[in-house]
Amino acid sequence: MLQAFDFLKESLKNLKTVGSVARSSSFLCKAMIDPIDFSKNQVIVELGPGDGVITEYILERMTEESTLIAIEVNETFCEKLKQINDKRFFVVNQSAEHLDEILKHHGYKECDAIVSAVPFVVLPDDLTDKILAKCHLVLSQKGLFIQYHYSLFLKKMYNKIFSNIETDFIPINIPPAFVFICQK
Ligand SMILES: C[S@@+](CC[C@H](N)C(=O)[O-])C[C@H]1O[C@@H](n2cnc3c(N)ncnc32)[C@H](O)[C@@H]1O
Repeated sequence: MLQAFDFLKESLKNLKTVGSVARSSSFLCKAMIDPIDFSKNQVIVELGPGDGVITEYILERMTEESTLIAIEVNETFCEKLKQINDKRFFVVNQSAEHLDEILKHHGYKECDAIVSAVPFVVLPDDLTDKILAKCHLVLSQKGLFIQYHYSLFLKKMYNKIFSNIETDFIPINIPPAFVFICQK
């Protein structure tokens, strides 16, 4: 409850970048990571982790040799994320369009999955384009890009970038959400 209130406070201060007043529900968190094959070692990038509600689910399911890199523009959320003490987990306080340099800095050319909650609907179009181009660039051949939105409005945009897109509807969330599961 306290976490939900803190998230609301931070969100109201930064409406143009946070894009939501409520953290994702457990149903949405699970739907966002279910498509990932956690039986294998994975390099996963999380974009817009906020205070880490989805992060916790990813870390719980990842193998010991997997890596999770969280990229978040909001400094307050990054401070919160840095309290997670896990040798497989790295927090970067930057914007998602630097994804390729950030991966390289951590010793990786590509990643296996990108879990994104970046609110593209409220970001400038050119920034959205840059971020999505970088996502496509760094994904491995069979890599997955997984994103949620509160409408199907942006599906056309993903159709232009990714080869195969599945959608899932999660009614138990505020507001109800669509999950886009995209293959490179
Ligand atoms: C809707 S919140 C999602 C928070 C959390 N992942 C959840 O599902 O409840 C969107 C997050 O994206 C972050 N964000 C917005 N623009 C970003 C960017 N360009 N790069 C990285 N993170 C960004 C915001 O600061 C915010 O934490």
